[in-house]
Amino acid sequence: MLRIAIDGPSGAGKSSIAKAIAARLSIVYVDTGALYRTVGYFVRSRGFSRTDVEGIISCLPHIKIEVRYENGAQHVYLNGEDLGDRIREPEISMYASAVSAVPEVRAFLLDTQRDIASKNSVVMDGRDIGTVILPNADVKIFMTASNEARALRRTKELIAKGMEANYEDVLREMIERDQNDRNRDIAPAVAAPDAILFDNSDLSVEESIEAVLSIIREKGGKTV
Ligand code: DC
Repeated sequence: MLRIAIDGPSGAGKSSIAKAIAARLSIVYVDTGALYRTVGYFVRSRGFSRTDVEGIISCLPHIKIEVRYENGAQHVYLNGEDLGDRIREPEISMYASAVSAVPEVRAFLLDTQRDIASKNSVVMDGRDIGTVILPNADVKIFMTASNEARALRRTKELIAKGMEANYEDVLREMIERDQNDRNRDIAPAVAAPDAILFDNSDLSVEESIEAVLSIIREKGGKTV
């Protein structure tokens, strides 16, 4: 079993890179942000504001989340429904960040994440994978890029998905979300002491994939 943890702020390229690594190594890619997005989606659909902690907690007993892999791609089902790209909307990003600061939400999603990693070799991306979810991961990478590079990538990604996005709004919301994620009391988005810091501001996706693969080869030893 090989467990690779990739953490870092939004737009650092974690998901594209982790997906490619998983395909190259024939292991499972787990996008943990999708779980927080799914909870955020439900909370919003129930009409709660994202600052309403009691409201967020009251939603949890009504949420059943399942992660399934279909043709190698992760699908998250909320009460039996695959929400697809609806969880990628910018408003849901803000909800995801807000619900993720609530300890009850993190506890609610813990088993789902650990369960997948106990049954499969994984590359898992998120904010607390190396610190909380998989503290014994074989390889831990903390991926970053400049604010400008990340906001530009995120804007392009949203537009490619057919959503409305402008760079200034994306940059502002991204900085707000990073601050929430980094400064929260529980499982803040910080690098594990044994994580390798990887800044890819000036690298293409292909170059980043190669660089991460060589880190994995070095750190993962014989398992890769
Ligand atoms: O990776 P993402 O942008 O899809 O994540 C959405 C939000 O979920 C992010 O702002 C913080 C939260 N999150 C988290 O707290 N822990 C994780 N392991 C993954 C995401």
